[in-house]
Amino acid sequence: MRAALAHSPFLMAPMAGVSDQAYRLMAQAGGAALGYSEMVSCAGIHYGGEKTWGLVDPDPAEPDLAVQLFGSDPELFAEAAEKVQARLGERLALIDVNMACPVPKVTKKGEGSALLDSPVLAAEIVQACVEHCDVPVTVKTRRARRPDGQGSAGDQVVDLAKAVEAAGASAIGVHGRYASQFYRGESDDGPVTKIAAELSIPVIATGDALTPERCVELLGTGAAGVFVARGTYGNPWIFSDALALLRGEPVPEHTAHERIAAFKLHVRLLEATGAHLARARSLAGWYLRGLPNAASWRERAMHCSSVDEYCALADAAGPPLSTDHRVTRPRSADPRPAGRQKCREVPRSALLAGQTTERGTAATEGRPHG
Ligand SMILES: Cc1cc2nc3c(=O)[nH]c(=O)nc-3n(C[C@H](O)[C@H](O)[C@H](O)COP(=O)(O)O)c2cc1C
Repeated sequence: MRAALAHSPFLMAPMAGVSDQAYRLMAQAGGAALGYSEMVSCAGIHYGGEKTWGLVDPDPAEPDLAVQLFGSDPELFAEAAEKVQARLGERLALIDVNMACPVPKVTKKGEGSALLDSPVLAAEIVQACVEHCDVPVTVKTRRARRPDGQGSAGDQVVDLAKAVEAAGASAIGVHGRYASQFYRGESDDGPVTKIAAELSIPVIATGDALTPERCVELLGTGAAGVFVARGTYGNPWIFSDALALLRGEPVPEHTAHERIAAFKLHVRLLEATGAHLARARSLAGWYLRGLPNAASWRERAMHCSSVDEYCALADAAGPPLSTDHRVTRPRSADPRPAGRQKCREVPRSALLAGQTTERGTAATEGRPHG
């Protein structure tokens, strides 16, 4: 984890239904320090289904990958950690344990954010993983399950974080929302600051990292890194923009042409990596946001069924090539005040340079899981 953070503190967050191979390649081209898989079921790995392994396997062009597992049985975690390491070998950067997912289908089985209620079991899970693989084992969680009520008074993350640190976790991601909030309301940085002050292991901040400015602001919690999740929607450049801002370098503007080129590249990557092209519908909405008549282009994207159709639609949606149209993007997903919502992009040349050198973005019809 510390090695990845030495490159940049800005990481591509795990996102179920979104962070597939194509999305991660785009993110890494855009400067992400490390890409995370979608959350993968330990039980799924136990039964060995091809669909499950499809979530785990990196694309050959991905330098490395963090694999996030979910479940509640330490033995299944041990088995999964061992099998994932055997399959990915040196390309496995770390195993992350999901203790954040708020979705009832998951929590009713004691998995995801339900582990906030059971620090002892959470520690056993971490220990089982540590004992069965050679890579760092990390945890991603939320401040608590709910603001008050049964067993949830105060921020449960304090007990959980201490327990998993003692069990050998190498880092912990903290989301400043209660699981009961899902993604509503503003994320509170207070719990992140508290955990960063009280623990020795690196803390990764997550919550509303929607602009480069906000990504940098999150480092003010004392976190060593920042997960960028919804901030990547249609904006693979957010990682290098945040890094430029952090270094006091100018943050480039991005044109509509660059956004369209990135969308087309992303759709081609979906096809090249064997992903379902339906994912391009969400991508169209995100990349084309802010262009004239964006709503109508988004609606038309629902009827596209091939890469060529998506690319033709993007070309038609963009301004004439002779113009250099700068997009002012509406920040509809951003609940923060306007001062935190400025967004600029890196030129396509930088995106392409990133792709051909070390690292590689993307979108969702999936439901939020962390
Ligand atoms: C569509 C979607 C899917 C997500 N899936 C996961 C997941 O599989 N595992 C996880 O730990 N977090 C997941 N998350 C949570 C994000 O990683 C991140 O912590 C959260 O969105 C807060 O960051 P943001 O406010 O900057 O988006 C998901 C979020 C979204 C929006």
